[in-house]
Amino acid sequence: MISIAVLGYGTVGSGVVEVLSKNQESINKKAGEEIHLKYVLDLREFPGSPIEDILTHDFEQILNDDEVKVIAEVMGGIEPAYTFVKSALVKGKSVVTSNKELVAKHGAELLEIAKDKNINFMFEASVGGGIPIIRPLNQSLTADEIYEITGILNGTTNFILSKMMSEEGLSFDTVLKEAQDKGYAERNPEADVEGHDACRKIAILASLAFGMHVDYEDIYTEGITNISDKDMAYAKKLGLDIKLLATCKKIDDKVYAMVAPMLIDNEHPLSHVHGVFNAILVKGNVIGEVMFYGKGAGKLPTASAVVTDIVDAIKHLGRNIMSFWSTKKMELMSIDEVKFGYLVVAKTDFFPASKDSVLKIFGDVNFVKLNDYEEEIAFVTTKSSEKDLQNKLRIFERQPSILQIESAIRVG
Ligand code: HSE
Repeated sequence: MISIAVLGYGTVGSGVVEVLSKNQESINKKAGEEIHLKYVLDLREFPGSPIEDILTHDFEQILNDDEVKVIAEVMGGIEPAYTFVKSALVKGKSVVTSNKELVAKHGAELLEIAKDKNINFMFEASVGGGIPIIRPLNQSLTADEIYEITGILNGTTNFILSKMMSEEGLSFDTVLKEAQDKGYAERNPEADVEGHDACRKIAILASLAFGMHVDYEDIYTEGITNISDKDMAYAKKLGLDIKLLATCKKIDDKVYAMVAPMLIDNEHPLSHVHGVFNAILVKGNVIGEVMFYGKGAGKLPTASAVVTDIVDAIKHLGRNIMSFWSTKKMELMSIDEVKFGYLVVAKTDFFPASKDSVLKIFGDVNFVKLNDYEEEIAFVTTKSSEKDLQNKLRIFERQPSILQIESAIRVG
């Protein structure tokens, strides 16, 4: 029998307890051991709940209990999660976590401690919820040199964008509220809608793919708060969809990473990913393209990945199996040299002059119109470097016939 503890009884923690109980028999078989949930740590009380008798408010009790071999940290946030996880690893207990902030910030260091102690630090649930992606990168795709990972890594924003695309006129706030009610969103939804959550997740994937520490603070990140109904209408008119994509890509010997809303056509594998679903497209020099798809948020999908890690940690007690992420920091290339096309929408007070300006500044473009009104001009540029396009946008903005640039969205 192996004793374990769960830190945090929120959405994911209660899901972990539920999964352990629901699939107890098959999970024990797969672990090759009887799993005994000995403690759940939380500051709150849960009278009448299934964990009432094993609830503790004292982490030291878990830390100093030598019977506890594996700890699942599902509290979220950096502190006290970092202190708890680090002290547990130092004490020789394997830790599994769903906490992407923790993994993105301290993953390399925590993996190193686990390696030194011959135990494991696992974080399958930190990216893509229930989708297996960490294990495939660490184990199934080791024959490949990965050169690109592009994903829809945030369920809340994909849920919002999908609804805005399919149900015209729905406000951003209404859809966000629905995502929160369904338990997809972070406690602070700014992390979702401003792209920070996806940024941390792509930092984790990039670090694993390229074997060095990618600092999430170096990743260019743009959220979806500026995406409007009108942008959706233009996208539809062009036969495109808008998705919040998180990318890391190797170009020659350099790697860039970014999170931004992108227009993609229906040939793009990620254009078919709707609602709370996430998908991760991985490109390797041997395998070509492979895509992982599933529910990227929510109680049970995330708990599924946490429990899978618990089983794996138990199967590998006393044997470290995961360490391909060095503490050495990777210098990312700036996105300035990366090439994109842009959909530009601007308000104008004189359409013919604004059209001349577009042609003069951007050259060959594809004009797009939603209606006959001439107060607005919209066009898609050809691909050019980010730096070049940003310069052109600045020049365009200053033209006398242009009142305001309303949108500038990259075409993937
Ligand atoms: N808020 C996150 C999302 C939860 O919406 O994807 C899973 O990390």
